[in-house]
Amino acid sequence: MAVERTLSIIKPDATRRNLTGKIIAKFEDAGLRVIASRRMRLSRAEAEAFYAVHKERPFFGELVEFMSSGPVVVQVLEGENAIQKNRDVMGATNPEKAAPGTIRKEFAESMGANSVHGSDAPETAANEIKFFFRDLDIVG
Ligand code: CMP
Repeated sequence: MAVERTLSIIKPDATRRNLTGKIIAKFEDAGLRVIASRRMRLSRAEAEAFYAVHKERPFFGELVEFMSSGPVVVQVLEGENAIQKNRDVMGATNPEKAAPGTIRKEFAESMGANSVHGSDAPETAANEIKFFFRDLDIVG
């Protein structure tokens, strides 16, 4: 298995409830390492650009509104099979369908306010990491 990097976002519903540390512990317990991290507030334009792939979806407006509603923590996670491992730790997008022990099962409030985002494939991961971080910001 290859060592990969993936982009993670801890979303505004989670920062509002002070869950950042509990969520990072789940990543670390699964063997993922945080090799870059920044707390920030996305503007509407930044949220629209990040989620541009979803712009035709009916929930796009709600998604942009929510993601720019409060602080987020953007991170690069590294580890063996990191993209899939992160998705396993996050659980299903819909928290009602997420497996026990996953971040979304334990912490998500709804499909939209679902506490975390993670890249879904190697090309997406590379693009999403570049969206937030320069090479100099990433220390593996
Ligand atoms: P995320 O992994 O950040 O990628 C796109 C996001 O859109 C997803 O998590 C959900 O939070 C959100 N999303 C997907 N489907 C819906 C939906 N039906 N209603 C509201 N938000 C949604």
